[in-house]
Amino acid sequence: MSDKIYVFDTTLRDGEQVPGCQLTTDEKVMIAKELEKLGVDIIEAGFPVSSPGDFRSVVEVSKAVTEPTVCALSRAVKGDIDSAGEALKFAKRPRIHTGIGASDIHIKHKFNSSREAIIEQAIDAVKYARNLVDDVEFYAEDAGRADLAFLAKLTESVIKAGATVVNLPDTTGYVLPNEMYDRINYLMNNVPNVDKAILSMHNHNDLGMATANTIAGIRAGARQVEVTINGIGERAGNTSLEEVAMILKVHKSMGYHTNINSEMLFPMSNLVSQTMRMPVQANKAIVGRNAFAHSSGIHQDGFLKHTDTYEIISPQEVGVPKSSIVLTARSGRHALKHRLEMLGFKLEKPVLDDTYKRFLDLADQIKEVNDKDLVKLMRA
Ligand code: KIV
Ligand code: ZN
Repeated sequence: MSDKIYVFDTTLRDGEQVPGCQLTTDEKVMIAKELEKLGVDIIEAGFPVSSPGDFRSVVEVSKAVTEPTVCALSRAVKGDIDSAGEALKFAKRPRIHTGIGASDIHIKHKFNSSREAIIEQAIDAVKYARNLVDDVEFYAEDAGRADLAFLAKLTESVIKAGATVVNLPDTTGYVLPNEMYDRINYLMNNVPNVDKAILSMHNHNDLGMATANTIAGIRAGARQVEVTINGIGERAGNTSLEEVAMILKVHKSMGYHTNINSEMLFPMSNLVSQTMRMPVQANKAIVGRNAFAHSSGIHQDGFLKHTDTYEIISPQEVGVPKSSIVLTARSGRHALKHRLEMLGFKLEKPVLDDTYKRFLDLADQIKEVNDKDLVKLMRA
């Protein structure tokens, strides 16, 4: 029996904090519905106190999805928590995510506070949030650089106060994978009530170790992963959902599974990239445009003899079409619809008919229509 790993998607919150990637409420709702189909367990929809628009987005996402838990972020202050609770009032499964800095650097320079006062504030915030919803996640910001004995005490205190999940972010992407394993292992063995809550991994990618750290955390006992589509997020980004989901799938022998429908990963990546105007790097694992492209002669020769020689995942498993379809003025409506779906655009008649006419006009002019041309056509 493998252990379930809960997938907490924060594309709409941490991902959306990226400059230039802001989403409208309608765009957030559209992505949330696709995340539900993808099989994520929790959707972090926003930070309601931050702006009226973000508040509205959390309300509308709460109405739009049924299966996943909908989560709203707050700082460990009453006004934020009230706002989060209010924005979640239509959610079938609401969760408030509240927290405060846990490293001495944050405690001193951000809060001008003390370890003792931080624990008190954390306990008060969790108790206050528990009066509004049954599911409260606590984040110990900059946990990656926090004193470990203090982190254990903080974790124990917030679980006692009613936290159902404790998030231990590597906010600055500093920790090494073996250290992450040791830190989570320490908490699993030194927090007496750790069995009453789930420990969560929320790793940033400043040194390119977010995914490795997340897997290390799982191996040590964390059972929730906080991830974004395409790994987007503050600075160098967050842990990428598609990487973690496929690592656990490819390495089944590790004994973990998620609820992710892997065939939706590539269309989902395209949808987020187009909607947020954030291109995916060509060599991005799983979803980059070169992830299943074989270029050198030696590789091509091996690949053509047996795909296993150079592929550890079949492209179809992550929703990448095996052979590329070249779109020209001789292509039919079906091929166009299929390619647009791969790019995240779902069209039905009569919009499809109209798009097809405009596509034919363009194809007559430029002969071969690539994905960029199609996105431009959809935006026109
Ligand atoms: O990186 C971080 O510490 C965060 C918290 C607000 C959860 O995003
Ligand atoms: Zn973060």
